[in-house]
Amino acid sequence: MTAAARIPGALPDPVTVRSAALAERAAAVIPGGVNSPVRAFGSVGGTPRFLVSGSGPYVTDADGREYVDLVASWGPALLGHAHPAVIDAVQAAAARGLGFGASAPDEAELAEEIIARVGGAGSGPGSGSGPLIDRVRLVSTGTEATMTAIRLARGATGRPLLIKFAGHYHGHSDGLLAAAGSGLATLALPGSAGVTPETAAQTLVLPYNDLTALEEAFAAHGDRIAAVIAEAAACNMGVLPPAPGFTRGMIEVAHRHGALVILDEVLTGFRAGPAGYWGIEREGIPAGIAPDLLTFGKVVGGGLPLAAIGGRAELMDLLAPLGPVYQAGTLSGNPVAVAAGLATLRNADAVSYERLGRAAEAVADGASAALAAAGVPHLVQRAGTLFGVLFGEFPEPPRDYADVQRQDLARHRAFFHAMLDGGVNLPPSAFEAWFATAAHDDAAIDRVLAALPAAARAAAAASA
Ligand SMILES: Cc1ncc(COP(=O)(O)O)c(C=O)c1O
Repeated sequence: MTAAARIPGALPDPVTVRSAALAERAAAVIPGGVNSPVRAFGSVGGTPRFLVSGSGPYVTDADGREYVDLVASWGPALLGHAHPAVIDAVQAAAARGLGFGASAPDEAELAEEIIARVGGAGSGPGSGSGPLIDRVRLVSTGTEATMTAIRLARGATGRPLLIKFAGHYHGHSDGLLAAAGSGLATLALPGSAGVTPETAAQTLVLPYNDLTALEEAFAAHGDRIAAVIAEAAACNMGVLPPAPGFTRGMIEVAHRHGALVILDEVLTGFRAGPAGYWGIEREGIPAGIAPDLLTFGKVVGGGLPLAAIGGRAELMDLLAPLGPVYQAGTLSGNPVAVAAGLATLRNADAVSYERLGRAAEAVADGASAALAAAGVPHLVQRAGTLFGVLFGEFPEPPRDYADVQRQDLARHRAFFHAMLDGGVNLPPSAFEAWFATAAHDDAAIDRVLAALPAAARAAAAASA
């Protein structure tokens, strides 16, 4: 049996001949043929498209087919693919050398840009205090950023335990894989083999948006909890923003018990809005009620491997070389990645966010209208300019992982494939956000809108 034939639902489809051959070749030497599980199309079946180029809102596959892209590299391509300013910056940096393992001038500039974007410690009553974050450490992946933030929280508090919420994804480090969203949700895995029970026992997993459960966990273990980590808005189990008052309550409960709050903005940061999702959430929250550490990734690297941790000086200066909490990286702050991130953030101006917001709105509204017209039960979820579609009946707005797991995956699968046939590249999972870019112009949006009615009819015809 060939590797391509092992991919469920793979068809001898003339439009996927090259992708199928590439998948077969990759599967012989790369586990599952992919370097990150969701790319394997495991939950939707069929032939994963091998992508060879991207420009603005479009990507092109190995068979020469062009798609309007709503994956955007899973978030980083805020300005669209191969934005000229980003490519110029990357080419100029690469021409100077790919990295030196020594400090380079632009690292501080990117840190300053991140600090400036995050802004003050509060914008509500009593604000006017200093910046929310004073220091930024650059790393290479979101996984490293959250892993380091947790080590820092443990080092700062001297406590062992961590609270996370079911369905929130913070990367693939051992302690964070319990009931994680994203690929684990897509593959319906409860966690990962290879994580020791001792490590798993250091993480308490609670239902999202449930302050009572949080209070109870702190009542039982309060003096042993180092930190609560949460996505600023959950976007790895579908899009599920925090319920009104939840983030504020979470911070207040944690701080009352001497624990820190790590707000994970790896996905939402500078994408949900210019100051990330906290920039939206903090409106009306008094200064002083704020997360202690923030993690960033995706957009801050503009498409290259770069992520960051930010926090107040007294916490961040616990990191080596000043303090006892160790963190290091051969490629941390790599100059080419820094150039991509800086060019992306500098070009992500008010006009870009306005375009991004308009594109997101048009696609979300169009998808909802098409699904409603075809009689497909669904719910459009939004978190700033991030959005996604949940397939199924939701009599009450979903609040947690258990709620979104009731999705109708058969309808999603049919919808996904019909959109792909119609020239639209959606995330191959019902548990991921859809990503628009500032480059999605009217022509790209019209192509999405044109593909929607047939996809909605395909979803309607799929058995629940
Ligand atoms: C909220 C969040 N945190 C952390 C990560 C991990 O980032 P990376 O894949 O760069 O390791 C992700 C990745 O999707 C994410 O969405």
